[in-house]
Amino acid sequence: MPTAAIIGSQWGDEGKGKIIDCLAQRADMVVRSQGGSNAGHTVVIGGKKYALHLVPSGVLNPRTDNIVGNGVAFDPKAFFDEIDGLEADGIDTSRVYVSDRAHLVLPFHQTIDKLSELQKGAASIGTTGKGIGPCYADKASRVGLRVCDMADETAFSAKLKARVAEANALIEKIYGGEPLDADAVAAEYAGYARRLAPMVRDTGVLVYEAVRAGKNVLFEGAQGSLLDLDLGTYPYVTSSHPVTGGFAVGSGIGAGSFSEVIGITKAYTTRVGAGPFVTELTDRTGDLIRERGHEYGTTTGRARRCGWFDGVVVRYSARINGTTGLSLMLLDVLDKFDEIKLCTAYRHGKEIIEHFPADLSLLEASEPIYRVLPGWKRDISGCRSYEELPAEAKAYIAAVEEITGVPVKIVSVGPSREQTIFRGEVL
Ligand code: GDP
Ligand code: IMO
Ligand code: MG
Repeated sequence: MPTAAIIGSQWGDEGKGKIIDCLAQRADMVVRSQGGSNAGHTVVIGGKKYALHLVPSGVLNPRTDNIVGNGVAFDPKAFFDEIDGLEADGIDTSRVYVSDRAHLVLPFHQTIDKLSELQKGAASIGTTGKGIGPCYADKASRVGLRVCDMADETAFSAKLKARVAEANALIEKIYGGEPLDADAVAAEYAGYARRLAPMVRDTGVLVYEAVRAGKNVLFEGAQGSLLDLDLGTYPYVTSSHPVTGGFAVGSGIGAGSFSEVIGITKAYTTRVGAGPFVTELTDRTGDLIRERGHEYGTTTGRARRCGWFDGVVVRYSARINGTTGLSLMLLDVLDKFDEIKLCTAYRHGKEIIEHFPADLSLLEASEPIYRVLPGWKRDISGCRSYEELPAEAKAYIAAVEEITGVPVKIVSVGPSREQTIFRGEVL
């Protein structure tokens, strides 16, 4: 199975970084196709923790090429901060390539992101403040600047200053914020342009040639399917397409290019930011999941909202992604519970809902219908094979498979590489 898309099945933070890193040991290339520095992917190797945002999680494997694809919202400052941090840790970043078609996150995108959230007040989305929405809005409005624009320093400087002037009008007149210094922004970005030049490629060609040559290529999702701009809990979503369809466009490859689609799926559910969450637990059980799972954001440090496994969400995600296998993550977090609940459907008045609905007011008024299973009440973090798992944990896995209709191909019982149980070949 030479190509695998690694998607987030829920609302992000499912453990994509860990699985990409595990699989990248056998991969020739890892490709990011959407999102930007709003992502926070944690990889733990030999007890050391790495937090990756824009650089693909394959970077920790020295033989892997790492591609930042055309669909990524590319923030050069965040990128070089990350590259510098990795190099300081002794990680070789010489095999990281950036698409010439990627759109640039500019300083005013972050300013507008934050001001617009402030203006929304109680109705705010709870964005990461990284300028992702405004960057993609500029792209859709056809006024964005791309990495390839940086090649001509004079022309780029003129375009950038003009964009800063337009954005300043919005910042001052609509939001009452402080304008940006266009000359300072242009000078800063001229520096990034020079440093970035040797890393810029037509990355679609690199990806295509790798796939054609039968190499092992991994497509690394950022965010999760329920944060998709079209298919997620709109407007409480991100502004990209964290689904396999988005990976095709965002890496410039045909839609039939993924031989496996692995849905990275928490054994429970979390969400950062606002929006409906049917299985959310605002009680002691939710707190216990948060404590045991260290559920605090990698990018913003915010406490994540926690709840039971939502089978409606994961079934939906499997449908919209064409998921061929699940990787069930953080199963060890559930070690201490007497009983564990899985949501099989929603109840809305007299109606039973099995397919994730569009209407948020319907979601907000829905109750989860649970299947209750006994807990295993045993530390499973040392289990290294499926056979070693307690019978109750195996029953839980079987219930996830039945509710979602997708086989669980990987089980994760801790953050490190060794704490990963493969049930057959994945890549
Ligand atoms: P991503 O955004 O999908 O890459 O996920 P994050 O890195 O934001 O959040 C997942 C968190 O869970 C990270 O802190 C991981 O180190 C951690 N993690 C991943 N898999 C497991 C697991 O099986 N058990 C435990 N206890 N932690 C895990
Ligand atoms: P990874 O890749 C979890 C959420 C934000 C907010 C919404 C919009 O680590 O799984 P944005 O800044 O993208 O405009 O915010 O999306 N969000 C994430 N939640 N994990 C992420 O990435 C996220 N990236 C964005 O919290 O609700
Ligand atoms: Mg994350």
